[in-house]
Amino acid sequence: MNPLNHVAIIMDGNGRWGLKNKNSRNAGHRAGINTVEKIIKETIRNNIKFLTLYAFSTENWKRPKKEIKFLFNLLENFLKNKIEDLNKQKIKLKIIGKKNFSTKLNKLLKTSEKKTHKNKKLQINLALNYGSKTELINAFKELKKKREIINEKNFKKYLQTKNIPDPEILIRTGNTKRLSNFLLWQLAYSEIFFEKKLWPDFNEKDYSKIIKKYKNIKRNFGKI
Ligand code: FPP
Repeated sequence: MNPLNHVAIIMDGNGRWGLKNKNSRNAGHRAGINTVEKIIKETIRNNIKFLTLYAFSTENWKRPKKEIKFLFNLLENFLKNKIEDLNKQKIKLKIIGKKNFSTKLNKLLKTSEKKTHKNKKLQINLALNYGSKTELINAFKELKKKREIINEKNFKKYLQTKNIPDPEILIRTGNTKRLSNFLLWQLAYSEIFFEKKLWPDFNEKDYSKIIKKYKNIKRNFGKI
């Protein structure tokens, strides 16, 4: 059976779910939070050590201001209400992406990371204002600045995911088959699962099925 240390997820389909069920895209984002909680629980149950969630991309700034505001309020409330609980469960929170939000949110993100930094049960990497191309360019710039030899080992040190194993699994919900500027380097050898369900409809059973399927895949890494 294949080892599993890291699952990455593109949580797509909130907007469509909200429009279909509540006539409001934002209602879909709110419902998406429930799925986040279910998936965290199931990740712990499966003893997976890293979970990376794509919550807001560098491209998402192109959305209407009202939706962006709603999303960040949701995130703020989630952290305010849940960080103690996450900490109790020994979950470490790490933000990947550039923290250039309101002073209040930047502070909340930093204190949440600080509070949980010693936890070892599960590390959640929350991708916020994250774009893989920017991450790669910044890593190249660092390598150049430090005049280091260009090789995989040196390059990886400057990614935001340094010290985190690459995801063995990528899940994208919402019936869309693209990577949307997410972890382009780190996903080089991941098993990719495109899921028809919209994120708020995705549940523990769907997740478990994917994990089971992954565990039985013959992974060759170029060999035969
Ligand atoms: C993509 O669906 C979803 C997002 C851009 C936001 C994801 C955010 C959440 C699940 C809630 C906040 C998360 C945390 C961890 C507190 P979409 O809006 O692009 O859906 P669509 O493709 O149907 O329009």
